Amino acid sequence: MLYSELFASALKKLDRNEMATAVEVLIESSFAINRSQFWMGRNQTIRDANGLRRFRRAFARLLAGEPLAYILGKKEFYGETFAVSPAVLIPRPETELLVEKALELLGQRPARILDIGSGSGCIAITLARLTRSHVVALEKSRPALRVLKRNIERFGVQSRVRPLAGDLYPGRAAAFRMIVANPPYLSRQDWLEAPREIRLHEPKTALVSGRAGTEILARIIAGAPRFLEPGSHLLLEIGQGQRRALCGFLKAAGLRELECVRDYAGIERVVVAQME
Ligand SMILES: C[S@@+](CC[C@H](N)C(=O)[O-])C[C@H]1O[C@@H](n2cnc3c(N)ncnc32)[C@H](O)[C@@H]1O
Repeated sequence: MLYSELFASALKKLDRNEMATAVEVLIESSFAINRSQFWMGRNQTIRDANGLRRFRRAFARLLAGEPLAYILGKKEFYGETFAVSPAVLIPRPETELLVEKALELLGQRPARILDIGSGSGCIAITLARLTRSHVVALEKSRPALRVLKRNIERFGVQSRVRPLAGDLYPGRAAAFRMIVANPPYLSRQDWLEAPREIRLHEPKTALVSGRAGTEILARIIAGAPRFLEPGSHLLLEIGQGQRRALCGFLKAAGLRELECVRDYAGIERVVVAQME
């Protein structure tokens, strides 16, 4: 069988041409070849039996609706590749907006940062790498913490990113110049309406907050004054239509909203607030 025949027969089974890139990536990773090797050699006969077995196993998972990132065990975020497993949320492009805003506010000055609900560590590690800041990466889920630690080692940032098990905030008093969080913010109803691929494969505890969706955001905001000095920043990723509720929580906690960044779909996505 030629590589091009394998590609075409896989696409036929998927019956969705938009999955062409996913199939191509699976072929490349299964046979350990790069993009140009695939395209240059697509009319060559496949001789790598192990590669073919790997492809068939991976393709069966894709056919069953598993996200490509979990099959490959990795996902790009802010130009770098992070290890992922079904224990963590797959990093999203919207979250890069939060990182961008944080970098803008931090400038060149290293700071002490708290990342709440660190998951794969994509936010914490990116900020630590690009600003030489010290980040406490707090996570409640033990399986997620294992992926987080793997990424900390992979990027060699053990001295600047400290993984910490906990429920939203560290047990001990500490002061941070910035708190960032992409917490669970879906309501139970949002979850029921979420795409099947998400519901079946991504961790519900990473996505669902409660009945309203804003419960965890409210707890983060209420707890923030104990950990932020005046003038310090709180950056939160939020769900569609949650900004108004958030403004109320911020005011009650003595924080001032500075800005709300819209995502690529025009949805209010990242709230930037400052401790009065
Ligand atoms: C939406 S995911 C974000 C993961 C990662 N920061 C990202 O942006 O891709 C939310 C994360 O918060 C964690 N989490 C949920 N409740 C938490 C809590 N009470 N305390 C700490 N972490 C929590 C989840 O396990 C999950 O890893």
